[in-house]
Amino acid sequence: VVVGTVRLWDVRLGEGGPAALLLGPLAVEPGLKSGGIGSALMRHAVAEAARLGHGAILLVGDAPYYGRFGFS
Ligand SMILES: CC(C)(COP(=O)(O)OP(=O)(O)OC[C@H]1O[C@@H](n2cnc3c(N)ncnc32)[C@H](O)[C@@H]1OP(=O)(O)O)[C@@H](O)C(=O)NCCC(=O)NCCS
Repeated sequence: VVVGTVRLWDVRLGEGGPAALLLGPLAVEPGLKSGGIGSALMRHAVAEAARLGHGAILLVGDAPYYGRFGFS
């Protein structure tokens, strides 16, 4: 059973610019919201990006949600 999803995409900031990851979509099965699945997916995604040596993650989303994971 799929309870949630998160995806990281390789992107480049301008032609020949620095590499980064774009995060999204992040989504959790509606009936399972507020159970910590979204937070677990976010922490895992950020930790994996760091482990693989990526230097930056960009996203478009609600600051009150993503701020808790260190995004501004
Ligand atoms: C956003 C989403 C992934 C969070 O998943 P989750 O498993 O419920 O997340 P967590 O359990 O880790 O955190 C839930 C907390 O985040 C808060 N929250 C959820 N969406 C929020 C938002 N857009 N802005 C601020 N807070 C938000 C909830 O109110 C809840 O607060 P609480 O812990 O005080 O009860 C999920 O609500 C979802 O799939 N939403 C629809 C898709 C979506 O909006 N994705 C993000 C696109 S930017």
